[in-house]
Amino acid sequence: METILKTLKATADGSRLRLLRVLGRGAFSVAELTEVLGVSQSTVSKHLKVLSDAGLVTARRTGTWAYYSLQPAGGEAFDDRLMELLIASLGEVGDEDAAAVSRVVANRRKKTSEFFRAKASQWDAVRDELLGPPHHLDELVEWADATGTAVDLGTGTGVLLGRLASTASRVIGVDASAEMLEEAERRVTGDGTDNTELRLGALEHLPLSDGEADTMVANLVLHHVADPVAVLREIHRGLAPGGRLVLAELREYADESFWKKLGARWPGFRPEDMNKWLKAAGFEAVRVQDLNGAANRDSPHAKNPTRPGVFLLEARRLERNAIPNL
Ligand SMILES: C[S@@+](CC[C@H](N)C(=O)[O-])C[C@H]1O[C@@H](n2cnc3c(N)ncnc32)[C@H](O)[C@@H]1O
Repeated sequence: METILKTLKATADGSRLRLLRVLGRGAFSVAELTEVLGVSQSTVSKHLKVLSDAGLVTARRTGTWAYYSLQPAGGEAFDDRLMELLIASLGEVGDEDAAAVSRVVANRRKKTSEFFRAKASQWDAVRDELLGPPHHLDELVEWADATGTAVDLGTGTGVLLGRLASTASRVIGVDASAEMLEEAERRVTGDGTDNTELRLGALEHLPLSDGEADTMVANLVLHHVADPVAVLREIHRGLAPGGRLVLAELREYADESFWKKLGARWPGFRPEDMNKWLKAAGFEAVRVQDLNGAANRDSPHAKNPTRPGVFLLEARRLERNAIPNL
């Protein structure tokens, strides 16, 4: 009874209903929500607190970074049903915030694409300087064990394409940056592989038909996207039944200047959070392994490592009927 009252009180407010509808479309920072609603930051924070206290929204935060999103289903049955109903019925009335949401999302993409446009020709050197040589690629490719159609998500300069092409029958590299794809094109031409194709497109709307890929890999890409769960859902759509996703990501790391240099939106991830998001997007985690995280902890810089650790994660696409609320 108490939970029901809390939920009803939290939702009995026009601004909070607007916030819920906006968050129904993805994860947003307080600054972005302030821009969308056109009210003060403190008003937005106040409403977010009420929604968080009622367990309806959740914040993913590290240091000064915070993105708010709807709490994935799986809590109280009443809350789950009410949220489903609310979001569905809010979608039916006029959405006064739709244009502002589209503007905010377009602005995020613009920032990321400007970053990679400027860095494309030096990207490999920038990455090696910030992250060290990518020693984990062999393991990533081994884990992917790609056969059939393999997709390299956010392929960048295409470092993985040749390796995937040696076992898969077809490889597709996807990236939102035309400049990065030009570098990848040069590499593919240099490798002389004829089973590789490059497609320009966003991870949020993959240029793939439903179930086109048998395996997808994402090497150090998700920390660039604003809403990893939305991207994971789209990956789910593009994977064939039983298809696998193998990703390499950076662990959380406190130095914000490092992430700025990397053009990142997220300051790394905790594998346990990634597992939660994978579950919400319709995946089952198969295995996770820290690569240089352990080495970092044992190093003389253990208390103050100079770069974040890398972890590998393999997940399997679950069938739609096995997933609540997808
Ligand atoms: C850090 S680079 C990694 C490239 C490559 N996977 C590698 O390991 O070298 C990230 C790449 O993801 C692309 N990217 C970032 N956000 C994207 C998005 N939302 N949709 C498609 N590509 C995106 C960028 O253009 C960039 O080429």
